[in-house]
Amino acid sequence: MVHPFVTAKKPQKTKRDGLYIVLISVHGLIRKDNLELGRDSDTGGQTTYVLELTRSLARQPEVERVDLFTRLVADKRIDDDYAQPVEAINDKASIIRCQCGPNRYLRKEMLWPYLDEFANEMLKHFRSIGRLPDVIHAHYADAGHVGRKVSQLLGAPLLFTGHSLGRVKRERLYEQGVAKDKIETKYNIHERIEAEEMALSNAAMVVTSTNQEIEEQYKLYENYHPQQKVVIPPGTDISRFSPSRAPMRSYDYLKHIKRFLTDPFKPIVLAISRADERKNITGLIEAYANHNALRKLANLVIVAGNRDDLAEMESGQRDVLRKILYLIDKYDLYGSIAYPKHHSVEDVPNLYRMCAKSGGVFVNPALTEPFGLTLIEAAACGAPIVATNDGGPRDITAHCENGVLIDPLNSKEIADVIYSMINDPARLRLYSQNGVKGVKNHYTWESHTKTYLKEIRRHTLKNQNQFLFVPSGKRLLEANRLFITDIDNTLLGDAKALKELVKQLRKHSGQVGIGIATGRHLESAIEVLKEWDVPRPDVLITSVGSEIHYGDDLKQDMDWRRHIDYKWEPERLRNSMENVPGLELQPETNQREFKVSYLYDAETAPPIREIKKQLREKRIRCKAIVSHQAYLDFLPLRASKGLAVWYLANKWGVPMERILTAGDSGNDEEMLEGHGLSVVVGNYSKELESLRKNPTVYFAEGEYAAGILEGMEYFQFFGDIKFPEVRDK
Ligand code: GLC
Ligand code: MG
Repeated sequence: MVHPFVTAKKPQKTKRDGLYIVLISVHGLIRKDNLELGRDSDTGGQTTYVLELTRSLARQPEVERVDLFTRLVADKRIDDDYAQPVEAINDKASIIRCQCGPNRYLRKEMLWPYLDEFANEMLKHFRSIGRLPDVIHAHYADAGHVGRKVSQLLGAPLLFTGHSLGRVKRERLYEQGVAKDKIETKYNIHERIEAEEMALSNAAMVVTSTNQEIEEQYKLYENYHPQQKVVIPPGTDISRFSPSRAPMRSYDYLKHIKRFLTDPFKPIVLAISRADERKNITGLIEAYANHNALRKLANLVIVAGNRDDLAEMESGQRDVLRKILYLIDKYDLYGSIAYPKHHSVEDVPNLYRMCAKSGGVFVNPALTEPFGLTLIEAAACGAPIVATNDGGPRDITAHCENGVLIDPLNSKEIADVIYSMINDPARLRLYSQNGVKGVKNHYTWESHTKTYLKEIRRHTLKNQNQFLFVPSGKRLLEANRLFITDIDNTLLGDAKALKELVKQLRKHSGQVGIGIATGRHLESAIEVLKEWDVPRPDVLITSVGSEIHYGDDLKQDMDWRRHIDYKWEPERLRNSMENVPGLELQPETNQREFKVSYLYDAETAPPIREIKKQLREKRIRCKAIVSHQAYLDFLPLRASKGLAVWYLANKWGVPMERILTAGDSGNDEEMLEGHGLSVVVGNYSKELESLRKNPTVYFAEGEYAAGILEGMEYFQFFGDIKFPEVRDK
């Protein structure tokens, strides 16, 4: 079988002219067209946001490629669009779907255990297209987790947008009296907050929509670094939301409100929002009702979602609508207030236009308003605005100078402000023009991405050296072959040959990734490599494969740690070995979290077969490995040098056929007999004799590094690698 990555191109090291931007948005249902917004709570605003951002970035000339990574879902309950691994949006942008746990659709709170798989799939993708990202922008906590990992491994700066934050959600749930354990089990809040903290601690830049988000939300985090925050409001689609000169009469929607109103051509005070108590529509109705002059001057039009039968609505919405109906009756507003049952998405821009044309105002009286998308849409259509004095509206009116802020609890003020605005047509006209202009300058995706790209340049360059890490895995992704060697009695032993080997490796450093796989623990491995003047490898597999570290910063591979931590009971193991003759615990420094090691006296100790049998009888699960007939190591079932190499091959997308391993003794056996190429050096120990029948294992004449060089030549490792025919069984 041809391995899928054999044909992979080598990722480019040199920067190309254009930027390659990667966005990650893991959860929900994302596809190019016909978004199923509102289908569930994971498919909504964020989905539109990331798609619009992707499209808009792709329109910028300095951007060469944009990929939006999301989860692959193959589930018969949903459309198969979401099961395509790649969906092109246009010639510069694609949606890439990554495997992440089971195929079926899962709500976002359930995805935590599978996110590392998602990250690994991303790495494979970069290798397969032969390009590494210049910037990684993660959206929401789950993508924050993925993005942080990938960014650390590749050294590409991380951008983070929380969209909403776990600490805020938790507080709100507490306030609502939801029990602590329920918050944990249902929402996995702890994982979410942790992922957010980590993403924030690693991000070069945090993109938010408003200043208030920073002040009231990001500030709650331990990793609150104001200088990384950049406020860039999301864009509005000005092709949908634009002003129109069409006269009042020409609007189709008029017929829906006409039947409520005695004089439908009076100025319209318009409110559009969900029927949610926090939106304070009833506050607006009361303000209007209590202001006689305003009642005479203008009509009130309330568009609060769609409804068929109140009795069938969700209780929160029903309560709001009931109260609206009650107030209309109480203040006898019949004839001056319209509250249509239905409207479509297409009606919305026309409602704003009608409001503008009528000489009215759009009002958003919400109790709090962190953003206020409706205000921007209204402004884009030329409607002057009156809005709650809070984060979003404050930013909007500061940018556009298109309206007035009010205190949502001050009924008289609301009505007075609306009244005086409608009474001043010159002012209305100015606000209307300012709004249209302001949205173009500040709230389009075009302006969003312009600012975005400018900030990327500024922040990522400036913050480059603030990163707490050196990219650890980048070389592994760029290399197209891997050399992994044991240290003692393999790499080391012949200083002259070693020098030659190091020279060869240096010469081919652009294409060869280098690893060591040793029984020694990390510190001791580093020390001995230094002693022998061997340059620091790209990856260090130590303690017989039970630990993996990368690069100069020696970042531990925590996925591997988690992976091998399986049915591992070192205490029971040690106890059960206590009275076995011929075994003596090695010094404390050789005992590691996932490795229990003994000196093994082959004369007096029972044969290894016997020891394994005893362990099995006691149901102690582990792996026992003898080396040089003198050492006995116990490891978790999933650990060994061989399994570690296999794991690396998968994680970094290097085909086994392009991995050469070298060793001399028992703890190398699994690694040497794996699916790759291997060399047994001439000075090998007798446990390895059985590998002779294996065609991919080369037994060198030469000893130590000389044997390695011989094997490299045999397989043409630095050239067009020669992989021996493996007979099918
Ligand atoms: C190294 C380790 C030792 C281990 C041996 C065989 O010498 O220090 O703990 O038992 O390799 O794997
Ligand atoms: Mg050795």
